[in-house]
Amino acid sequence: MELPFAESYRIKMVESIRRSTRAEREKWIREASYNLFNLRSEYVFVDLLTDSGTGAMSDRQWSEIMLGDESYAGASSFFKFKNAITEITGFEYVLPTHQGRAAENVLFSVLVKEGDLVPGNSHFDTTKGHIEYRKANAIDCTIGEAFDTTLIHPFKGNVDIGKLEKVLKENHQKIPFIIITITCNSSGGQPVSMENLKAVKQLAVKYGKPVIFDSARFAENAYFIKLREEGYRDKPIREIVLEMFSNADIITMSAKKDAIVNIGGFIAMHDKDIFSKASVFEVMYEGYVTYGGLAGRDLNAIAQGLYDATEFDYLETRVKQVEYLGNKLLSMGIPVQQPIGGHAVFVDAKRFLTEVRKEEFIAQTLAVHLYIEAGVRGVEIGTLLADRDPVTRENRYPDLELMRLAIPRRVYTNNHMDLVAVALKNIFDKRNTIKHGFRIVREAPIMRHFTVELEKI
Ligand code: F0G
Repeated sequence: MELPFAESYRIKMVESIRRSTRAEREKWIREASYNLFNLRSEYVFVDLLTDSGTGAMSDRQWSEIMLGDESYAGASSFFKFKNAITEITGFEYVLPTHQGRAAENVLFSVLVKEGDLVPGNSHFDTTKGHIEYRKANAIDCTIGEAFDTTLIHPFKGNVDIGKLEKVLKENHQKIPFIIITITCNSSGGQPVSMENLKAVKQLAVKYGKPVIFDSARFAENAYFIKLREEGYRDKPIREIVLEMFSNADIITMSAKKDAIVNIGGFIAMHDKDIFSKASVFEVMYEGYVTYGGLAGRDLNAIAQGLYDATEFDYLETRVKQVEYLGNKLLSMGIPVQQPIGGHAVFVDAKRFLTEVRKEEFIAQTLAVHLYIEAGVRGVEIGTLLADRDPVTRENRYPDLELMRLAIPRRVYTNNHMDLVAVALKNIFDKRNTIKHGFRIVREAPIMRHFTVELEKI
């Protein structure tokens, strides 16, 4: 008999989580104005809100925490951090930041100005937020295949090269850079192929524009290239990672994802001039250039996390768990984005709750039902997240209404995944009885999904 797959680690420390009753959950979610971000974490049994900052650090990372050098300037931890980044990514100039959006803030303060257009593949919401906050616009050039959840395509994070070239040609003066998100969170944790990264870089060179990678889930992207792209099967992950990054001029990284730490991020680049300019904003917004909003121990944990995350065995365990949940849902007939993404399963809420109107926030409605069913917290990636159009202030209705179940790294077992699947199946079986969702009572002008208050219709 073929041996079954098993995790490439064992557990050394555990944290208790608590079950609750349906009546308790109904009360708690009502008190939270039907916004899952407003729930206290003790009210959640399996927390799939995000894979960001929620991973379990390894014994090696914890030992690095003890070795942190907390000197204000020039700490040995900074050099450990910088050397790890240079070794893994190939970039020599590094600025630590407290998380990914802080890296965007510092870098875009140098590069983005009013009226600019920033093309890329489905920008993450903080990236888009930092562009729009500067009165510039993000242009989505993701391939059309990404928006059909039933279509199997190995690299649904890819950029439509024709679309990108058209944008570059027509708006040449207004484009400060191209930004590619690996993996592409907004299109379902979908990878970008090496071929596509190279094609983007070629085009960027032709039009004289720098390429930025938003690289929060770079290691998962490399894993998919190894498995799915011709010619990469026998290459080690680290080699693939270096090749990926050789197609970028600058990278931003939220270290809370693939670097498996609870907080942290950075910017890395080749260009000394941009580095000097960014350093000015770094000192104003984040902190001195050798700590950037982080403790020395955090810098150490990120350095070790980058090594952990680029081990094939770890990545295989990681991505296989996400696939395990996704395949289980598929076998139950539940519509999910296919192929299954690297960090999360994205349930296609429009195809799940067919009776709920888009004006009533379909994916949010599904997420609330799942919470009430089993104390499982997912997150809406749909109309609430898409915010209003900055000019017309009308709701933007994205092509996809998704409920994301993001799996924290090295945290839950497949028994938890089984529980999530059954909970969703129970809702799926009674989906025709769910006809209404929510209306907004209060919302913030930007990134409203974090604080929005809703009431039942
Ligand atoms: N880029 C991508 C692709 C992201 O997914 C995130 C965060 C960021 C940038 C911003 O990084 O949170 O460290 O400031 N994504 C989290 C998520 C919040 O749940 O997907 P951050």
